[in-house]
Amino acid sequence: MKNACVIGWPIEHSRSPLIHGYWLKTYGIEGTYTKVAVKPEELGGFLASLAERGFCGCNVTVPHKEAAYRASAERDASAVAVGAANTLWLDGGTLHCANTDTYGYMTYLTERASNWALRDAPVSILGAGGAARAIVYGFLQAGVGEIRLFNRSRERAAALAQAFGPRVRVHDWHQRGPLSQNASVLVNTTSLGLKSAGDIGIDFSAFHSACVVSDIVYVPLETAFLAAARLQGLATVDGLGMLLHQAVPGFARWFGVCPEVSGELTRLIRADIEGA
Ligand code: ATR
Repeated sequence: MKNACVIGWPIEHSRSPLIHGYWLKTYGIEGTYTKVAVKPEELGGFLASLAERGFCGCNVTVPHKEAAYRASAERDASAVAVGAANTLWLDGGTLHCANTDTYGYMTYLTERASNWALRDAPVSILGAGGAARAIVYGFLQAGVGEIRLFNRSRERAAALAQAFGPRVRVHDWHQRGPLSQNASVLVNTTSLGLKSAGDIGIDFSAFHSACVVSDIVYVPLETAFLAAARLQGLATVDGLGMLLHQAVPGFARWFGVCPEVSGELTRLIRADIEGA
């Protein structure tokens, strides 16, 4: 019997137990995946006693991603690039970590808009938090020549760009619309639009028709940002896929089966979000 969990503070909102619980049932695996509320001051003690508590690993969410990264003895390149971890596992008593947000984002983008890289055009990214770091890393890994980064506070974007080198270029927040018109992909990684609060304020009417517009916000499933892009005829990619796909590597690691993000699982989580 293998047990994994997701830890955060708060943790009530997490949909990870629904995702992993679905896979455990689907593949007939004897295991559990639970949520555990861990206060920031308890994180070190919790991770040090993971095995004692019967866990082979865990997912980590807000606000523990950076601290979990620091607490791990072995770090995957994915976590090193982002400076934060969301997936932890024990191997011979040693705590390992990875960041699977990059994998989750890029996998879903490529599944939904396989031609996104056909035009050799810049990628535009809104935001400079942890999610932006994971996504910048993904596009750089995919070979994108130029990433345009826009953030309300320019200094934070500049710090991110500095960590990733000259292919990431920082621009003022007010230029996010005009400088994204020719983008191959425009991604929102800010919290604007979450629960329909705030407006990204981009007019898509002059955008290149092949621009793919994506949002990592998934409540609501179609944000106002995505709806506006869709109304201009642009391809859109919602935030649900990243949530689902980022869970795959952890499940494979803990339970030994690489799970499928099936239509049934997508419908299950979609219904949960819509019913919330
Ligand atoms: P995460 O780690 O999940 O990516 P975060 O670190 O809290 O989240 O980052 C949130 C992002 O949303 C930041 O880029 C933030 O901009 P600042 O760095 O300037 O704070 C952005 N954001 C939040 N509220 C915003 C708003 N009202 N207008 C523009 N950007 C906003």
